[in-house]
Amino acid sequence: MKIAIIGGAGNMGKWFCNFFLKQGYEVIVSGRTRQKLVDLSKEIPVEVAENNIDTVKKADIIMISVLLQSFEDVVKEVAPYIKENQIVWDVTSVKEIPVDIMHKYIKKGTILGTHPVFGPGAKDTDQNFVLTPTNKKEEKYARELKTWLEERGFKVSVMSPRKHDELMAVILGLSHFVGLAVGDTWLELNFRELEKISGTSFKTLFNLVENVVNTDPEFYSVLQMSLPNVDKVESLFQNKIEKWLNIIKNKDKERFVKEMITLRKKLEESRRYGRNDNSCQSS
Ligand SMILES: NC(=O)c1ccc[n+]([C@@H]2O[C@H](COP(=O)([O-])OP(=O)(O)OC[C@H]3O[C@@H](n4cnc5c(N)ncnc54)[C@H](OP(=O)(O)O)[C@@H]3O)[C@@H](O)[C@H]2O)c1
Repeated sequence: MKIAIIGGAGNMGKWFCNFFLKQGYEVIVSGRTRQKLVDLSKEIPVEVAENNIDTVKKADIIMISVLLQSFEDVVKEVAPYIKENQIVWDVTSVKEIPVDIMHKYIKKGTILGTHPVFGPGAKDTDQNFVLTPTNKKEEKYARELKTWLEERGFKVSVMSPRKHDELMAVILGLSHFVGLAVGDTWLELNFRELEKISGTSFKTLFNLVENVVNTDPEFYSVLQMSLPNVDKVESLFQNKIEKWLNIIKNKDKERFVKEMITLRKKLEESRRYGRNDNSCQSS
């Protein structure tokens, strides 16, 4: 079995090269910058394709691991060469747009939208993976892939591309937004002095801020601009900031304590029993 990874020398591409090699598969890679692919092939035993079309022609399964801004061009380029017995996954962090693009251009084979919900630094397969099939054929393949991934340690969820994107607006969108806003705030407040004597809460936040600011800004900007309702989720967050700030400005200790106890109770309930009535829904 040969797996093609388009974008194989990128951050996630490399992670999947290593993963598939460990599973005993042959891996062929293509990308934009040939030198990066050649360098990769000196580190690990991957075959370097001439170009994206060559890689598609030589593989059984094709993984597209490019950023969303390059996605349509890549799919348009390789779609005419995909055969009925081939499988195409994408790993893009948003799902509705790339899945629509794959449906628009790829008329043969089986496609599947997937999102490995972990970064290239992941050390093992104890990670979340989302599959987003949209028809019977894709659902059948998603069931097979779910079993295969779970046997290798992943925790797999299956949902629609839209549902995935709504959840990611909070999981990725809001978390990155908080990281950016907190980092930006620290800069106004003498960061070096703060870090020197920081405690647990600060260090937890620091990890978030550090992860966010060290990621490719192009990648995160695409997430903020493409995830549905991310602005609504972030506006809700802004309202919550104002609520807590008002309590503090009014020195309303009693309300602060009451709100904090309620928050803890509701979060616990929500974790135990699922969604609460206030959860953010798309319109
Ligand atoms: N990074 C994460 O934490 C993460 C997590 C989960 C999913 N993802 C998803 O994984 C995908 C890849 O992300 P990444 O972080 O690995 O990005 P990346 O490091 O920028 O890798 C993207 C790769 O795509 C290649 N590429 C761009 N245009 C191409 C084209 N027209 N033909 C062939 N190759 C092309 C790039 O080659 P050059 O370098 O030569 O331009 C690069 O190797 C994205 O869709 C992202 O949403 C990322």
